Amino acid sequence: MRQLKLIAIAALCVLAWVSVAADTPTSGYRSATWDPIHFKPAIETATDEQCLTCHREVLERRPRPQTISGEPSGELLAWYQTLDGYQGEQDTFHRRHLVTPEARRLMDFRCNTCHQGHDPKEEISGSADDTQPGILSRRSVDPDICLMCHGQFDWKVMAGVAGDWPEVRDQFKNDCVTCHQEYRTVRHQLNFLDAGEIEQAGKESSDSCYGCHGGRAWYAKPYPYVRRPWLERMPEVDPEWARGRQTEYDERFTR
Ligand code: HEC
Ligand code: HEC
Ligand code: HEC
Ligand code: HEC
Ligand code: HEC
Repeated sequence: MRQLKLIAIAALCVLAWVSVAADTPTSGYRSATWDPIHFKPAIETATDEQCLTCHREVLERRPRPQTISGEPSGELLAWYQTLDGYQGEQDTFHRRHLVTPEARRLMDFRCNTCHQGHDPKEEISGSADDTQPGILSRRSVDPDICLMCHGQFDWKVMAGVAGDWPEVRDQFKNDCVTCHQEYRTVRHQLNFLDAGEIEQAGKESSDSCYGCHGGRAWYAKPYPYVRRPWLERMPEVDPEWARGRQTEYDERFTR
């Protein structure tokens, strides 16, 4: 009886030790979850290769070919997936922004363009002494980034355009570039965009421009774009709506 008790106590001790060891941040999973690379400042200079050593699945995982009840994914399309700009099979969010032909041509995202640090414990700032300052509540990305390409087409600020693009585009031969050869010509100079390819794609079809400026609007509002001074034909007096607008990009998008 006594021997059994001793064995039981010894077993409990081992169990306790194992669980403590598993909980200390020097063991694999916990230390990886809390790897400094997830936080500022390290995340700001992290390379994609560094993130992908642990997170390769974000680029490898593909949607299921069919639902559990057997419907093929190619037959289950959301409305925007029926538009001309949408190409290829159903794909994941990360792959659509990093590796599809459209993404490779027009964009050049890095992991830390969107991911700027999250808190694995709280996912909110200031709820305890030791939480990271400045993280976005409950999110591991900055949603303002999304709005830049998924906001509404802001026709109200475009003198001469009298309605939403699908209603008026025939008047302009579905062409953004003729007007935009004159207006707001200093554009797309951000480190996650390919400015040259964007202009080329826009010349081939303005559906491509509209694709990021209203055609995939997940939001009910437009994005208030930085208004960079342009050389020719910039009005001397800023229109009312443009007062107080930023005139330079945030530094993190230009370095
Ligand atoms: C040493 C391995 C490692 C590296 C390097 C790493 N991560 Fe992680 N990451 C993890 C682990 C482990 C977790 C926790 C996963 C879980 O609990 O589901 C995690 C969690 C995350 C989460 C939160 C997932 C969620 O659902 O809450 C995000 C977002 C993330 N990592 C992004 C990144 C980015 C961006 C980088 C590069 C800047 C990066 N990670 C580098 C191992 C790593
Ligand atoms: C276009 C913006 C964007 C880019 C670029 C991006 N992510 Fe994400 N990522 C997101 C969003 C949005 C989520 C979901 C966030 C949430 O739930 O709060 C996410 C979620 C994650 C998660 C959590 C698990 C999952 O799959 O949902 C991991 C891990 C992650 N990203 C890693 C990466 C890595 C590594 C890279 C670079 C190769 C990367 N991300 C690039 C926006 C992005
Ligand atoms: C620089 C412009 C840009 C930014 C910023 C951006 N997207 Fe996208 N998004 C695109 C483009 C372009 C596509 C279409 C890619 C394709 O069809 O291959 C797309 C596609 C999507 C899709 C459709 C995926 C599918 O296959 O059904 C979703 C959802 C989405 N984006 C959400 C987001 C979210 C959430 C964010 C912010 C974390 C974001 N996007 C940031 C340009 C952007
Ligand atoms: C009739 C001419 C005209 C056409 C057509 C036109 N725009 Fe504009 N657009 C303008 C003018 C004018 C402005 C505002 C210029 C200024 O800042 O003073 C503007 C502003 C913009 C802005 C910046 C909005 C902001 O809030 O800062 C974007 C983005 C834009 N246009 C995209 C497009 C796209 C994409 C198309 C085609 C789908 C298009 N425009 C078609 C004239 C036009
Ligand atoms: C891949 C997504 C994408 C495509 C395609 C795209 N844009 Fe943009 N556009 C953006 C983003 C992101 C910004 C914000 C960065 C900036 O201000 O330049 C922007 C900004 C702008 C601005 C405001 C720039 C300023 O500083 O005054 C104009 C005007 C504009 N785009 C017009 C166009 C036209 C015209 C086309 C087609 C030739 C086009 N866009 C295609 C994503 C896109």
